[in-house]
Amino acid sequence: MSHMDVNEQKALFELTEEVKAHRQPEHPVNSLFVNRWSPRSFASTPVAEDTLETILEAARWAPSALNLQPWRFIVAKDQQQLDLFKEFILPGNRGWTDHAPVLLLIASHPLRDSGEPNGAHAFDAGAAWMSLALQARALGLVTHAAGGFDRTKAREVLEIPAELELHAVIALGYQGGLDTLDEKFHARELPSGRRPIAESVIEAKAKA
Ligand SMILES: Cc1cc2nc3c(=O)[nH]c(=O)nc-3n(C[C@H](O)[C@H](O)[C@H](O)COP(=O)(O)O)c2cc1C
Repeated sequence: MSHMDVNEQKALFELTEEVKAHRQPEHPVNSLFVNRWSPRSFASTPVAEDTLETILEAARWAPSALNLQPWRFIVAKDQQQLDLFKEFILPGNRGWTDHAPVLLLIASHPLRDSGEPNGAHAFDAGAAWMSLALQARALGLVTHAAGGFDRTKAREVLEIPAELELHAVIALGYQGGLDTLDEKFHARELPSGRRPIAESVIEAKAKA
């Protein structure tokens, strides 16, 4: 990798104004991680095909146990496909998912080629989703996951093979102004905080 000058290094840690007001990292961290958040307002701007390809390419390169790549992405990008998703997303989420120009259902295959369970399939699908979310952010788009959807109905409507496990619907697009969002979501349209890192990190210790 070529050497970065000080300004280039600084740019890697630059938070957006919107994020800066609500998120204070405890330690220096690449801004991509902190600048990603999940708005519910989506602009009507379409997502170009090559942009979507780059976002899915990022997910493709996620690590996975035995390199099994258990993730599957069911993509809705034209109106007919988006209308199918409306049939199974729960009403509480429809107020914002209905405005996203792209919806992706993240699923994963829970078995190894041998037919034995792959205990890491959900973990690996999670890695793929995060790669996708960060690539989207790096390209100036936003993502918002929704676990609130009817899985039985989704299988039926999208004719998803029974063996796949369904994890989340991801709304993808460009962030819109508050005027594009139902008023009931306005108060929550802010980057959220995080608990201190010390509450998540456990020092390894040997048995006494
Ligand atoms: C697996 C998963 C399921 C989620 N389901 C929903 C949902 O059904 N509705 C919703 O409004 N947000 C949903 N979220 C968004 C989370 O609430 C959000 O990611 C979290 O509060 C952290 O905020 P941030 O993504 O803005 O950093 C979901 C997120 C994940 C990862």
